[in-house]
Amino acid sequence: MPRKIKIAILFSGNGSNMQNIIETFHQKKIAHESKEYFFEIKGCVCNQKDAFGITRAKNLGIPCLLLPHQDFADRISFDLALEKEIKKMEVDLVVLAGFMRILSKKFCDSFKIINIHPSLLPKYKGANAIIESFESGDREVGVSVHWVNEELDGGAIILQKSFLRMPEDSLEVFSQKIHALEYEIYPEAIKKAIASL
Ligand code: GAR
Repeated sequence: MPRKIKIAILFSGNGSNMQNIIETFHQKKIAHESKEYFFEIKGCVCNQKDAFGITRAKNLGIPCLLLPHQDFADRISFDLALEKEIKKMEVDLVVLAGFMRILSKKFCDSFKIINIHPSLLPKYKGANAIIESFESGDREVGVSVHWVNEELDGGAIILQKSFLRMPEDSLEVFSQKIHALEYEIYPEAIKKAIASL
């Protein structure tokens, strides 16, 4: 019998990584390191009401809860509401896919949480990593998946992949290469994270 793994996905915007994860894992039996897993994406939570990802989740038939952080007085009350909703889903892993909020220590201590970040951490933490990485002039660039703690983009690295940037690449081409690498690395990192739980 494959081990059942339940996942919640949190996002704030476009939701392309969320879509990729749903398409890769939802209701699929997947083998990893000679073990078998059966994945279920229990639901998504979005904190921005105009996020395109809400439409993607709907089209994929995955429940998506809208929890706008602006509706809450402070970070603690938002995080408490989020914690309550995710506890209801009874998931093994919380996957951040472009979820642009720092989470409190209490929230981070309540779940196993992973995040994808579009730079070779610890370089270019924060919300503008692609532009900062592009403008840096670094020859080697890439993406990281890491465990989440209360520090911004700060937990232990699960997987990183890099590529050599082409000097002639525009920001648009550079961003496309970063996103393509994200779609490759996040599913791999999820399997690696699950195997360690
Ligand atoms: C992705 O590039 C992800 O790495 C980044 O937001 C984008 C979301 O795109 N996350 C961060 O910068 C986290 N600090 P998507 O909504 O299309 O998946």
